[in-house]
Amino acid sequence: MAALPGSALSRHHHITLCTGDAQEDYTFHTKVLGLKSVKKTLLYDGQVPIYHLYYGNDMGEESSLVTTFPVKHTGAKARRGSGQITYFSLSAPQSSLKFWKERLQQRGIAVQETERLGERCLDFKHPCGIDYSIVGVADDTRAPHSQGPVPRDLMIRGTHSICVSCRELEPMDEFMQRGWGGRRIADDRNYVRYALGRGGSGTYVDFVVEPNLAAGSWTLGEGAVHHMAFQVPDHRAQDAVKGFLEGMGFTDTSDVKDRGYFDSIYVRTPSGALFEATVSHQDGFLCDEAADRLGQEVMVSPQFKDSREALVAQLGVLRN
Ligand SMILES: [Fe+2]
Repeated sequence: MAALPGSALSRHHHITLCTGDAQEDYTFHTKVLGLKSVKKTLLYDGQVPIYHLYYGNDMGEESSLVTTFPVKHTGAKARRGSGQITYFSLSAPQSSLKFWKERLQQRGIAVQETERLGERCLDFKHPCGIDYSIVGVADDTRAPHSQGPVPRDLMIRGTHSICVSCRELEPMDEFMQRGWGGRRIADDRNYVRYALGRGGSGTYVDFVVEPNLAAGSWTLGEGAVHHMAFQVPDHRAQDAVKGFLEGMGFTDTSDVKDRGYFDSIYVRTPSGALFEATVSHQDGFLCDEAADRLGQEVMVSPQFKDSREALVAQLGVLRN
């Protein structure tokens, strides 16, 4: 049976979470985890203004990006469960795990040391309850945020893996290996790992099989991961992904949406988790801010462009 070429989806692009309070989220990512604020903008979908905050390395390169929708002001809460990305992990040097454990604990964050899929992990939570992990990786060559509060040699390199909770693996195994160009590379108890592109940190998609877990919510609600985006090199490859998925029967693969800094298509996978295939714009995050001003001011998405000042006042000015 035909499968999508493994070169189409090369690695993670960004992960997007629905968190709670915007200032709490901003402080957690920039002050505790030491990521750079790469862009402050607003969600492109819907009529209710919601911040879209991007955190990453110096220029916000693909697979360094954690992005959030802080939705506390909407009152919507997520229901955790099956069919969601249940946690995600960040890559940091193996030698930095002791530093990170102490850093998190000193800030009142509970840390659990564990091992999954042969990797040492520090599990902890975002203040809104979303599960994070830092995984020790020996050979991650991605550039970290170099001007933040965490020394460069100890700093997070980017996303490492996501983990989707599913009731059964078979439909998702077919999706990953035929429709998403992945390779099944590891099994550990009820965990299964797939790698994309060249493999390694920043390309992993894990599943935990939990047959008795009730379904989680898919809406924009506080306390859950909303979707995972994967990088495709160009629009031709993106069209090929969409065409291939539609040919498999995934006719709900979305049309291309311009997200200001990249173009995206979305597909609801058989597991329930929402995946995105993303082409970065050539000028990326530099299209509306200079390199030395990245992530400082709020860049307003098109549907709200006439009411910037009022919206920022309503959502709250984010303090560094
Ligand atoms: Fe996205």
